[in-house]
Amino acid sequence: MARKQQYKVTTRLVHGPEHSAKWDFTHHVTPPLSSSTTYRLDSAKRGARGFQEFGQLVTDVGETPVYIYDRLDEPTRSILEGELAELEQGESCVTFASGMAAISGALGATLKAGDEVIAHPVLYGCTHSLFQNWYPRLGIGVKRVDMNALASVRAAVSDATRVLYFESPVNPSLELIDVRALRRLVDELNVGRADDRKLLIFIDNTFATPFGQRPLALGADVVLHSLTKNLGGFGTELGGAVICPKEMHARLLLYRKDFGGILSSKAAWAILVYGLPTLALRLKRQQFTARKVAAWLEKQPEVARVAYPGLPSFPQRALAESQLVDFDGDFAPGNMIFFELDPRKAPPEEFIDELARSAYSVTLAVSLGHTKTLIELPSSMTHSSYGKQGGAVRLSIGLESPSDIVNDLKAALDKVAVRTKGGEKPRRKK
Ligand SMILES: Cc1ncc(COP(=O)(O)O)c(C=O)c1O
Repeated sequence: MARKQQYKVTTRLVHGPEHSAKWDFTHHVTPPLSSSTTYRLDSAKRGARGFQEFGQLVTDVGETPVYIYDRLDEPTRSILEGELAELEQGESCVTFASGMAAISGALGATLKAGDEVIAHPVLYGCTHSLFQNWYPRLGIGVKRVDMNALASVRAAVSDATRVLYFESPVNPSLELIDVRALRRLVDELNVGRADDRKLLIFIDNTFATPFGQRPLALGADVVLHSLTKNLGGFGTELGGAVICPKEMHARLLLYRKDFGGILSSKAAWAILVYGLPTLALRLKRQQFTARKVAAWLEKQPEVARVAYPGLPSFPQRALAESQLVDFDGDFAPGNMIFFELDPRKAPPEEFIDELARSAYSVTLAVSLGHTKTLIELPSSMTHSSYGKQGGAVRLSIGLESPSDIVNDLKAALDKVAVRTKGGEKPRRKK
């Protein structure tokens, strides 16, 4: 371990752990993939010990845990968890079957009936749906408050409040929440609250990843991820992760064991072997392209507004520069762009349909953080649970050549703009 710490994070991402107490694979260059639903226990005593020790935080200086059954714990997954905890500068990590399983698991292991969450108004559509459709049934209150309006947050906090929940950057608007400012407020509000009633800051760091933002260092308590996106990176695996203080670890493992939403070892292995070692490379390249695409979009007459943290026009540019910082200390504005079209010049649905019909380098699909550039309309797709209309577009930049992406966007804008001007009906895809 000591030797590994001398190297830069980008190098450590490529090489992973030198050694793991979870599983001795010292002579493998690539970590092996474990795939066993159940484990030989040798003796009744060993079986009993395994159950007794389950949920205890095993560190790399400790003994190899007694593995019992895949749903409790297994080595490939726990090696990935060690890596993710280290990247986020956290004490421990528990992975889940998907980002939503991680979010509902972290909240579920923390909250009980009668408790309350304060959540930012704009969230990923399924997180919004979790709060709208399920929390009322569970007797958990949800207040929606702008996390940057600190006076409103202060006013909303009650004895029942346990969690302040948000994404930063927000999906899809890319608005940022000032985590340090929220930490200061929470520290003040936590004075006098019992340990088990202290307010906790939960942040979904899916958009930035630890490459572009380490929220625990900024003051968050719990970091959530959809591993399906940038961390997995290739669009082949679903997964989620919770990075949390060690006192939450056992409860999360227990929750995961009983609710059952485990990350499969095969998905964990792919994220460990392909996703993490290429994370910095992919994101650096994607944000290089995103800067170019965002700057180009901003100049187009059909585009009413572009939100990209790397643009000088980004309204929270100073906050972006202080929060979105990569492992080397460089500004990391990310690979996501959000923009609004002027519907009189380029109706968004027609633009999207034109791309779906004609573009090669831009794909109409939800999800993000993929090798391929993906475009979608949040109001009718990922965020349809809000039930709001709107023509904004979310673009996740991939690894293609920047000029190809720009040319595909341009060709679609040209077509739609010409049609709109001429008043012709667009041809619909059959
Ligand atoms: C910010 C954010 N959080 C969580 C999720 C949920 O992740 P998953 O699809 O892996 O459940 C998504 C999915 O798009 C997301 O964008």
